[in-house]
This record gives sequence, C-alpha cells and structure tokens, in this order.
Amino acid sequence: MKTRIFAHRGASQYAPENTMPAFELAYEMNADGIETDVQLTKDHIPVLIHDENVRRTTNGIGFVQDYTLQEIIQLDAGSWFSSSFTNTSIVTLEKFLQWISPKSLKLNLELKNNVIDYKNLESIVYNMVKDYGLLERTVFSSFNPKSMERMYKLDPAANTAFLTTSKIRRLTQFTRSIGCNGLHIKYRILSSQLVEECRKTGLDLRVFTVNRPAQMDRCYKFKCAGLFTDVPDFALKQRSSLPN
Ligand code: G3P
Ligand code: MG
Repeated sequence: MKTRIFAHRGASQYAPENTMPAFELAYEMNADGIETDVQLTKDHIPVLIHDENVRRTTNGIGFVQDYTLQEIIQLDAGSWFSSSFTNTSIVTLEKFLQWISPKSLKLNLELKNNVIDYKNLESIVYNMVKDYGLLERTVFSSFNPKSMERMYKLDPAANTAFLTTSKIRRLTQFTRSIGCNGLHIKYRILSSQLVEECRKTGLDLRVFTVNRPAQMDRCYKFKCAGLFTDVPDFALKQRSSLPN
C-alpha cells in the first residue's frame, strides 16, 4: 500500500490554509486526501480554522468560540496570505463536506480541542460526516485523548487517530487504550522502532508535517500509511519517482 498524501490544511504552501482555494488546489494537484482543523463557533457551528484565535489567519481579533457563524464568515481569511486571496472566507465543515462528497478524496478532520475542549464537538462533527455518508473515507484525530475516547464511545468502528509531538512511554499501547486505530506523529519522532510497534499493534501511522524530499522518502521507505504536507505536488512527484 502506497503512503497516502494528505494536503495539510489544503495545499497550504500555495493558498491560505483551510480555505476553499487551498482545498481546490490540493484536489487539482491529485492529493490522496485533505487534512483540516475543526472548531466551533459561538452558535456551535463547526468551521475550519487552525488557531483558537482568528488573529493570525484573518483580519479579525478574538476567539473563534466568541463569533457567531454570521460574524465569522464576514472575516477575510485570505489577505494575510496574499492580496490575490482578499475576501476569501472561513469555510464551514458542512460546505467542505458538500464539496468533497462527490470527489474521491480521503478526509482527515482534526478536532482542535486540546486547548479549548468544545462541548459536543465529537458528536456534532461525527453526525455531519455520517449524514454525508463519508465515514469510511474519514479519519477523526485529536491531540486530546479524552476526545478520542468520546469518539470511540460514539462509534467504535470510526477511524480515529491520536496526535502527538512527543514519544511518550508505551505510546502505541496508550493509543490503542483510548480506542484509536491510527497514530499521527510529528516527523521528528519517526523511527524504525515506532514503525515496527505500530505494525505490531495494528495502528495506521501517519506523519506531519512533511515538506522536504528526504523526509518524504523516509516515510515512503517505512511504508507509513500517510503523510501530511503543505506541498502535495512535491510529495506526489517524489512518490512517483520511487521504484515500485
Ligand atoms: O493533523 C496533523 C497536523 O495538522 C497536526 O498539527 O498544528 O498542523 O494542526 P497542526
Ligand atoms: Mg491540523
């Protein structure tokens, strides 16, 4: 099985992260899937944005959770990146699912609830994905282990992955114990030992954020289940140059 290439926040090297232009570009580049970050507005609508505060990626200030949907979609989420993306807006999860549904792309919905543990984020996101018939194509992930336990309770068959940047003791056993069948790690903790442990425990190992050719090659050599990259075009080129 080839390592699947997920566009990290869309093709985020080329267009503002987590916006439709970044997702469209990932699709045009032939990425295998898209990773995006989900949070809730004040009126409990799931929207795609990485930071808890809108300041870095929009012309607004303050927290996502303090904006209603009507307010947050007025923000300009493109100008910070380049003037050619002026007036690009924040996308709702619903719009994203509508867009991706007829395409063959995989999805990784990262629940951004490790800083603010949004109430019912798991069930809101899960039910929407289910309504669109996209459960099989979706991996739900989080840095918050409690969230993954809640997701397991909702549906033990859902694809879930624990996200981590550090190699804690018994990481693979811990990941299994919270009900996940995937582990998403920062590139710097990738090792042959961890690859082997994941294989033994039946965990799908995916790696973030992999932007350099040598890093990509290592993920391919280890036959990781997936990698997340801001440059899916490079990752595809690099993968196609490998011997079969
Ligand atoms: O889901 C992989 C990766 O996106 C996790 O880190 O901070 O880029 O959301 P971050
Ligand atoms: Mg993410």
